[in-house]
Amino acid sequence: MILEPVAPYRPSHFRVKFATSAWERRACAALRRQVFCAEQGIFADDDRDAIDAHAIPICALSTLGGDADAVVGTVRIHEVAERPGEWWGSRLAVASAFRRTAALGAGLIQVAVSSAHARGCTRFRAHVQERNVPLFQALHWASLDAVDLHGRSHHLMQADLAAYPPMHDPEHGLVTFRKAA
Ligand SMILES: CC(C)(COP(=O)(O)OP(=O)(O)OC[C@H]1O[C@@H](n2cnc3c(N)ncnc32)[C@H](O)[C@@H]1OP(=O)(O)O)[C@@H](O)C(=O)NCCC(=O)NCCS
Repeated sequence: MILEPVAPYRPSHFRVKFATSAWERRACAALRRQVFCAEQGIFADDDRDAIDAHAIPICALSTLGGDADAVVGTVRIHEVAERPGEWWGSRLAVASAFRRTAALGAGLIQVAVSSAHARGCTRFRAHVQERNVPLFQALHWASLDAVDLHGRSHHLMQADLAAYPPMHDPEHGLVTFRKAA
């Protein structure tokens, strides 16, 4: 019998949603550690901070046979307690094998800003690594200032909320598709 080599499985679509289950949240934390500690070396071995106590984690899930399979992207959002209406996004990360393949970064930013918009957000901001500023500009964010954070150049950026209609069912989220090769 001759076994033909089989191309590795590549999911055709992904769901981006609030990370509601325990395994999704654990996998978001693991991906953050992988990207911000192991890959970028910004933190030694744990990137968690006080914001995690009240932030909402969001995940991008790959699918296998229609079912959620693994977390391949994440971001978190939180409202500033002292300034109601002001929301921030942080720790945006897509697993390296899935970058630029299915608009996962764009989908995570969409769920982040649109879900905050539905919760009364009037101002959505993020500190964006300099190399990612063009990505955010293309997604209707404006740079307000240049700042140094964790020893790296960042821009303080703000989303144009008009480009992010309120999303009222972020537990369901949205679907993105793999781009044609
Ligand atoms: C930044 C990051 C989340 C983007 O995720 P992604 O899934 O690759 O992004 P998308 O595929 O949604 O990109 C959307 C569009 O922006 C483009 N784009 C992506 N990254 C870009 C960049 N750094 N500069 C310019 N354009 C970029 C893509 O080509 C795509 O355009 P297209 O639709 O015309 O092809 C990912 O590269 C990552 O995890 N990087 C490491 C972690 C990191 O730097 N996080 C901090 C973010 S401030």
